Amino acid sequence: MSQDATTPTVAEHPNTSAVLRISIIAAFGGFLFGYDSAVINGAVSAIQEEFGVSPGPLGFAVASALLGAAAGAFFGGRIADQLGRVPVMKIAAVLFLVSAIGCGVVDSFGWLIFWRIVGGVGVGVASIIAPAYIAEIAPAAVRGRLGSLQQMGIVLGIFVSLAVDAWLAALAGGSTQELWWGLEAWRWMFMAEAVPALAYLIGAFTIPESPRYLVEDGRSDEAQAVLANLQGSASATERVRLIKESLRSEHKPRLSDLKGRMAGLKPIVWVGIGLAALQQFVGINVIFYYSNVLWQSVGFTEADSFTITVITSVTNVAVTIVAIALVERVGRRRLLLIGSTGMALSLGTLSVLFATADVVDGSPVLGPTAGPVALVAANLFVIFFGVSWGPMMWVLLGEMFPNRIRGAALAVAGFVQWIANWLVTVTFPALAAFSLGVAYGLYTFFALVSLLFTLKMVRETTGIELEDMQD
Ligand code: GLC
Repeated sequence: MSQDATTPTVAEHPNTSAVLRISIIAAFGGFLFGYDSAVINGAVSAIQEEFGVSPGPLGFAVASALLGAAAGAFFGGRIADQLGRVPVMKIAAVLFLVSAIGCGVVDSFGWLIFWRIVGGVGVGVASIIAPAYIAEIAPAAVRGRLGSLQQMGIVLGIFVSLAVDAWLAALAGGSTQELWWGLEAWRWMFMAEAVPALAYLIGAFTIPESPRYLVEDGRSDEAQAVLANLQGSASATERVRLIKESLRSEHKPRLSDLKGRMAGLKPIVWVGIGLAALQQFVGINVIFYYSNVLWQSVGFTEADSFTITVITSVTNVAVTIVAIALVERVGRRRLLLIGSTGMALSLGTLSVLFATADVVDGSPVLGPTAGPVALVAANLFVIFFGVSWGPMMWVLLGEMFPNRIRGAALAVAGFVQWIANWLVTVTFPALAAFSLGVAYGLYTFFALVSLLFTLKMVRETTGIELEDMQD
């Protein structure tokens, strides 16, 4: 990944409003990703009551959507190389749409799991297609900002689903109460997702195919037209030539293109895998998936825990705005380094607080000083994550791979990201029951690993053209 001095500057007349509009449409995938992952929070107790399931199978149901996402990321990345980026968005939108309706009308727990997995596949597909597509249409100078819109979509989706869940439950007088058409509030929480899913689907019909895919597909004239429209016509011909050169291959990308000498894979693929796994191993989603349980277990009331969850998700939205403001100036790598350091410190604080708290009925109870300190530490963790690893991992996965292997490499890294998310999610309850201090100690360890990993393995990509990203 080095800057080639001979590369001309493209985007001499970037069509900012068009680029922004289509990036926002692509980032709707992120919004659905966030909404779909978090919507279950408000519905969980009603589902337990409706189908008489115990927490064990329910936890399995929640986690199975993550395995669906792993499959979605993997196949989505492969299909993006075969059919193009935009068709993959349409597929994701349809998956979200049918899953939303399906979850809303199910009459058995088995079908609920089925439709959750279908939505999960959509989440996985959306998670990799927006970063790739946005990176491929964005002028290099603002690629980090536009790529961060994916994370903005995710965190807004998490926040909106919390708000919608609370609003519908309040409207019906409880999530198990009937609301409209004889259907209970919890069903509407899922069905509400049909609205952004439809918007995403319609939006996908209004955006151009990625010029990098078009060249790969032998449609250089179309690619040139798209580039001329988005980045200015003077450099479009030259850009198409450079894309062609960067593809250097007669066939469509295959998984075997990822092969290299470093334990069977190219080093850059390992960097992607490392970024993806570490982003999850610092335990961010424990805060989002289990925050109610976490805060209640250390002595906060249910109402307080919900308020804390809302505050955390608003913090997450605010800090993403900061990331968008900083990414091109500070650079991806430096943000990752700052984030890793802050995460290690805040997670370490949480670990010590939980490990040294008094234990009542098997759970640590935080005292009047430790409680607020833990809250501040948890929010600092979200702030440091949200300004660094949250958005930057997605930005980097979208832009750091050479054109030739982007789809295949994203399929693999995206798959790893979801498996890592699943691993953290399924192990947290047992780890927490054993010791919250140990659980957070482990996340602290991974935050430190993420610091070393960035120092040793991650190169700066800010401002570099995709055609100059090398193996
Ligand atoms: C990132 C993570 C995702 C997490 C979110 C929270 O997008 O990939 O798993 O839920 O950040 O901000």
